[in-house]
Amino acid sequence: MGRVIAIANQKGGVGKTTTAINLASSIAAAEVNTLLVDCDPQSNTSSGLGLAKDPERISTYHLLMGAASAEESLQKTELEQLWLIPSHKNLIGANIELVDAERREFRLRDALAPLRDRFHYIVLDCPPALDLLTLNALVAADAVLIPMQAEYFALEGISELLDTIERIRASLNPSLTIEGVVLTMFDDRTNLAQQVTAELSRYFGDKLCKTTIPRNIRLAEAPSHGQPALIYDVRSRGAESYIQLAKEILGRSGLTVQELPPPVDEAQEKQVVNAPKWKRWMRERNKLITINIVDR
Ligand SMILES: Nc1ncnc2c1ncn2[C@@H]1O[C@H](COP(=O)(O)OP(=O)(O)O)[C@@H](O)[C@H]1O
Ligand SMILES: [Mg+2]
Repeated sequence: MGRVIAIANQKGGVGKTTTAINLASSIAAAEVNTLLVDCDPQSNTSSGLGLAKDPERISTYHLLMGAASAEESLQKTELEQLWLIPSHKNLIGANIELVDAERREFRLRDALAPLRDRFHYIVLDCPPALDLLTLNALVAADAVLIPMQAEYFALEGISELLDTIERIRASLNPSLTIEGVVLTMFDDRTNLAQQVTAELSRYFGDKLCKTTIPRNIRLAEAPSHGQPALIYDVRSRGAESYIQLAKEILGRSGLTVQELPPPVDEAQEKQVVNAPKWKRWMRERNKLITINIVDR
């Protein structure tokens, strides 16, 4: 059974979409079948992976309305092991159209159920609101990853989200857990960042991810090229930090993460040369991770 992780925070601009794209890509680059589901009508995840707007395309909207199966809505991406279920701006209407629908909070969970044994990881990018779309994502998820910036009153900023998670756990999805809290656009040189980190660490303990994501221009540029950072510029600190986050997340769910040694003979060398540039670089730099699936 695949693990479903919702990337949620009701605040906009905190790095949800950047995290969804780059975490999912890094997991897929580790040769793990991964699905990214764009649950935001703004469709930034879809365009960030190079999908041109197409009103005819099957999207998360069709999935929620029961008009298409998850299987039919899968799109391939530039990464061999990453698939995408795109969004469309009409998804905003689902909030209203589903109000009186049966099992309205379970729509996404039910739709994704047939895919859960095909993907090891399913990452859900949520809109910046605690609306019915985010609710669907939290009901479909096993865990929530919360991206946030190191600001004063950091905890207050996410208290509404934490309350919502608590309520969902008490009613609609008892097995929902917090995967982690990840600090984005982080600058550890400031006092503020260190104070906030200390506060969050007291509150969340182990749940606060050891990996932080620095502010990095490559992460902001990559979506306009329709690429995840590791294809756009695998050498960037941004790409590197998301690869590190992927290792941490994979490690947390009982997967042993190993680094591959550099090529030792001609045959391996050839394999490396024929691989895409980002993969070649990762291999040369010991960055490509292979996964041994351990019992979960
Ligand atoms: N670590 C980062 N460094 C630089 N820019 C970033 C970083 N993370 C996000 N951004 C930029 O900040 C803006 C908001 O990020 P986004 O991931 O879209 O947030 P959200 O999905 O939470 O609204 C985007 O323009 C994005 O490119
Ligand atoms: Mg977003």
